[in-house]
Amino acid sequence: MEKQIYLNSIDWDKAYSVGHERIDNEHKRIFELTAEVQKYKNDIEKIKKIIKELILYTKTHFFNEENYMKSINYDLYEEHKKEHKKLNKEFTSIVKDINNESIEDIAFKINKFIYTKILQHILLDDKQFHHFRKTREELKHSLKWIANYKVNDKLIDSEHKELFEIATDALNYDNSDIKQHIKTTLAKLYKYMQTHFEHEENFMANIKYPLLEEHKILHQKIIDQMNDFIKTLTKMKIIDFEKKLLEYMDIWLISHILFEDRKIIYYLKTK
Ligand SMILES: [Fe+2]
Ligand SMILES: [Fe+2]
Ligand SMILES: [Fe+2]
Repeated sequence: MEKQIYLNSIDWDKAYSVGHERIDNEHKRIFELTAEVQKYKNDIEKIKKIIKELILYTKTHFFNEENYMKSINYDLYEEHKKEHKKLNKEFTSIVKDINNESIEDIAFKINKFIYTKILQHILLDDKQFHHFRKTREELKHSLKWIANYKVNDKLIDSEHKELFEIATDALNYDNSDIKQHIKTTLAKLYKYMQTHFEHEENFMANIKYPLLEEHKILHQKIIDQMNDFIKTLTKMKIIDFEKKLLEYMDIWLISHILFEDRKIIYYLKTK
């Protein structure tokens, strides 16, 4: 079952864009090459060639991205570079037994790596260097629910939408007590998140979703992080806090929906 979820999950989605055209195109190409591995189910020589190209392409992409980060004086450049190095190493190591494995196993391993490691890297780390250049207004503008975030369930989709609305509401205020306004809105967001997670877990239980237990742990983690995050409000300047809130929502909410909640779609395709 797990295998099928990952084998169904490899299409590039516009929602994975970080908003930099060249970098997005390169990410897209990585997904296209991965999808090709599955296309040549009977031709191991062809598959080996594609995998070689895919690994090389990923390396080149990392190199290009590092140059870009350097050009904008990105403060987490060194950390990001280390992460690339780790990913390169892992990628090479998962295909080293290629001669002793079935084609289906190889395709599964590669898909899983691209989906869990590369996509996660795009949604969590690449997005950050993109945020680095944006202002509060630009970030606020981009934090919106879009149709590409759909998981194809009416209730879940409308609740996700509501989460975005509450989050941006925190930043809509007149000149009264700004801190109080943010505090109240965050409390509302926190409560709504809890309700939503409960609904989502019920939904997953109903469809017998096999990854429910690990998904519950992820929800708990988000709640804990949200707790810690709210505490920082008292120590930070409003302007810094707002940027952090937007980044936080963009990274945690969007990546959770895209990366975790949407596995439901791939699971339902297998049924
Ligand atoms: Fe990247
Ligand atoms: Fe969700
Ligand atoms: Fe979820």
